[in-house]
Amino acid sequence: MTTTPEAAPAVAGGRLGLAVVGAGYWGPNLVRNAQATPTLRLQWLCDLDVGRARAVLGPYSTVEATASLADVLADPAVHAVAVATPAATHVDVVLAALEAGKHVLVEKPLAATHADGAKLVTTAAERGLVLMLDHTYVYTPAVQRIRSLVREGDLGDLHYIDSVRINLGLVQRDIDVLWDLAPHDLSILDSLLPHGVQPVAVAAHGSDPIGAGHACVAYLTVQLSTGAIAHVHVNWLSPTKIRTMILGGSARTVVWDDLNPSQRLAVYDRGVDRTDPESVSRDVAAEARVSYRLGDMVAPALPEGEALRAVMAEFVSSIVDGRAPLTDGRSGLRVLAMLEAASQSLANGGAFVPVERSTP
Ligand SMILES: NC(=O)c1ccc[n+]([C@@H]2O[C@H](COP(=O)([O-])OP(=O)(O)OC[C@H]3O[C@@H](n4cnc5c(N)ncnc54)[C@H](O)[C@@H]3O)[C@@H](O)[C@H]2O)c1
Repeated sequence: MTTTPEAAPAVAGGRLGLAVVGAGYWGPNLVRNAQATPTLRLQWLCDLDVGRARAVLGPYSTVEATASLADVLADPAVHAVAVATPAATHVDVVLAALEAGKHVLVEKPLAATHADGAKLVTTAAERGLVLMLDHTYVYTPAVQRIRSLVREGDLGDLHYIDSVRINLGLVQRDIDVLWDLAPHDLSILDSLLPHGVQPVAVAAHGSDPIGAGHACVAYLTVQLSTGAIAHVHVNWLSPTKIRTMILGGSARTVVWDDLNPSQRLAVYDRGVDRTDPESVSRDVAAEARVSYRLGDMVAPALPEGEALRAVMAEFVSSIVDGRAPLTDGRSGLRVLAMLEAASQSLANGGAFVPVERSTP
């Protein structure tokens, strides 16, 4: 994408004016990180509950609180809007911001449906505006390192991916556990798959043992174009919190344990290799089809840092440079395509459903 000159305000010496919309659970994190970003100036915090917005800002803030999105969008000092309202409202709020000529950072998921998400991507492209997804985990040092391990070939061919994201979670009223938690795993997957490797079909199984009205526990299998599979387990009902992802490759396997700050990543030169049948005598060939590689484990040093700070930096620099951000609207659409296929699969008893490929 290229932004128009009006759409890419000069920030040299100045700062990009930002409004945050939504001051619930996640919005305050955007507020805090925007205020810690020297190239941003937070102008407004907007929430339908203006008292909530005021409480987030505190009594001495010069940032304006409002319940009126129209007032925010009419302000020429606002160049960009960060949206942290519930997913079902994204299409209206984001569309209004884009139509007012503002760049947009929107929380995951991009929208409640693929069709709504496509409308947002098309509008941003037509107007030369940045539309970026806050796929927060993609900006963590751990995912950045895994991405380079995968893309530079250190893991070899990907054999499988296994992701677990479970804890006693907030049981959402409007969406199931897949739409609440799996966007994290799916956006990570989207960001690190090697070029040319795509999800082709998704199967999902879920259950609602507490009668919440939708799945609280779910298992998702994503079939990749190479024949490998990625599996995601999300669960709001687990008393223990687990955040792990294993990426098994033909050369190495990386284990990411996000709750272990002293060793978030471990790269194992261990695995199972197939023995070349030519290299063993005929009578042992039947038993010796595989061999076990038991090499070293290396725990890479990772910088500590809040991912949302990197999200803000990427948002600003994509606007200033007139380029697509790492997690652009199309990445949000690819995640929506997998979520929609997952919902269809859940409704169809867990059968594989092809993932929609077309993007605007
Ligand atoms: N990136 C992450 O790790 C992460 C984590 C949690 C939530 N989220 C995402 O953030 C978004 C918000 O989630 P939440 O848990 O903060 O929700 P929430 O319900 O706690 O807060 C949403 C806020 O938006 C306000 N709001 C609703 N519609 C509005 C409108 N039209 N204009 C102005 N304000 C409006 C509500 O009054 C409420 O205060 C969701 O998309 C969610 O998926 C992302």
